[in-house]
Amino acid sequence: MTQDAGSIRFILNETETALSDLASTATLLDYLRLERRLTGTKEGCAEGDCGACTVLVGRLVGRELVYESVNACIRFTGSLHATHVVTVEHLAAKDGILHPVQQAMVDFHGSQCGFCTPGFVMSLYGLWLAKDAPSRADIEKALQGNLCRCTGYEPIVRAAEAVAKARPSAVFDPIVKMRASITARLASLKTTQTIRITSGDDQLIVPGTVSDLGDILAEHPAATIVAGSTDVGLWVTKQFRRINPVVFINGLDELQAIAETPDGLTIGAGVSYSMAFSKIAATYPAFGALIDRIGGEQVRNMGTIGGNIANGSPIGDTPPPLIALGATVTLRSKGSVRTLLLEDFYIEYGKQDRKPGEFVESLFIPRMPQTERFAVYKISKRRDEDISALCGAFRIALDGDNRVTSARIAFGGMAGTPKRAANVESALVGKD
Ligand SMILES: Cc1cc2nc3c(=O)[nH]c(=O)nc-3n(C[C@H](O)[C@H](O)[C@H](O)COP(=O)(O)OP(=O)(O)OC[C@H]3O[C@@H](n4cnc5c(N)ncnc54)[C@H](O)[C@@H]3O)c2cc1C
Ligand code: FES
Ligand code: FES
Repeated sequence: MTQDAGSIRFILNETETALSDLASTATLLDYLRLERRLTGTKEGCAEGDCGACTVLVGRLVGRELVYESVNACIRFTGSLHATHVVTVEHLAAKDGILHPVQQAMVDFHGSQCGFCTPGFVMSLYGLWLAKDAPSRADIEKALQGNLCRCTGYEPIVRAAEAVAKARPSAVFDPIVKMRASITARLASLKTTQTIRITSGDDQLIVPGTVSDLGDILAEHPAATIVAGSTDVGLWVTKQFRRINPVVFINGLDELQAIAETPDGLTIGAGVSYSMAFSKIAATYPAFGALIDRIGGEQVRNMGTIGGNIANGSPIGDTPPPLIALGATVTLRSKGSVRTLLLEDFYIEYGKQDRKPGEFVESLFIPRMPQTERFAVYKISKRRDEDISALCGAFRIALDGDNRVTSARIAFGGMAGTPKRAANVESALVGKD
């Protein structure tokens, strides 16, 4: 194992920060509000739903500095090593001149009580940095994870449309101005050393490499792996569960690869929904449309497909399409690797075929012959930001006479695990 280091280091707005005394489940929201008194970031729901706590987190993807909106309420501070955290306080100029995104919210009356406003501003700021000419659909997608109880959304969307015309310029934008130096500072913070912070029986561990992760899980088979924390965060903020020791894997570049071959797509367990979206949508448009309906933008920026399948919830959205497509999952531990069909991974409610010390390394989605058809349907009370009541995925092969030659159909929300509808599949074969 590589040598251990003992502090989580990141940049908060302009200030480089090193935390060596940090509880494993301390949230970024509490850190900002209670310790740094950056109270622009609000707490609404503490479960990733309302977006009042939205901040941007910048990280290096290869050599590129990418900023994404995240929910500070369910993001653990221990997961922030080598990142740039940007809060709403960073936006206005020193002389008090508002950032164009903030000014547009004023000009278009996008705020009433103001409680949701910093969160909306940060989501819009993330969009403004990422896209030159966002469409109405892009704006709505960026705001899926922000709720406002009083203004209504139309003025906020109008503000977003207006501000899109004022493109990033180093004169008034802190990130554009500092991009090169932030990139260099984050590169110098990145490490392949394992970070451990221990206080009493509380342990926070950030493995430096995937090989270290195997060693750590061999040493602590009951540790909680945390990827995007969009499930685990709620265990802490809502259920007050103790999940010690905590092993953060979101910084492991080795788990963030997406590889495309003629046979299919291999997706690392640490790839977020946002990062996986374009490749999956290009190959399986129906699966892409489903990903667009998982949580809001902040949840998709943090949450991983690896976490969704490892969590094993029967109403997780990705297992039905992955099972219908015949996906496999690769599990790794110290000294061993094995691959199994995803449908065989689910044993019963809350029980997956994951041995002590194993972690999900990647999943593989085989390419589907062009003669087959694939569709996914998610039924939920709201279109956006809602978990499935039911999710069904259908992969059907037809012969030249439009008769079914094979069918793979998988459901979530119908049983204790995501499950194939084997009787329906065989009943369909040979039918029109
Ligand atoms: C507001 C909100 C909306 C949501 N909407 C949806 C939705 O529409 N559809 C849906 O399916 N889900 C939804 N979720 C749930 C969640 O976002 C997903 O399940 C997500 O994919 C979890 O990924 P994560 O990286 O955040 O996992 P984490 O929370 O980090 O971990 C989840 C579980 O997986 C384990 N784990 C993570 N990575 C690994 C690994 N590599 N190896 C082994 N174990 C691992 C963890 O130990 C934990 O048990 C929502 C969550 C929130 C907060
Ligand atoms: S406080 Fe509601 S999403 Fe974080
Ligand atoms: S302005 Fe009041 S909640 Fe949005």
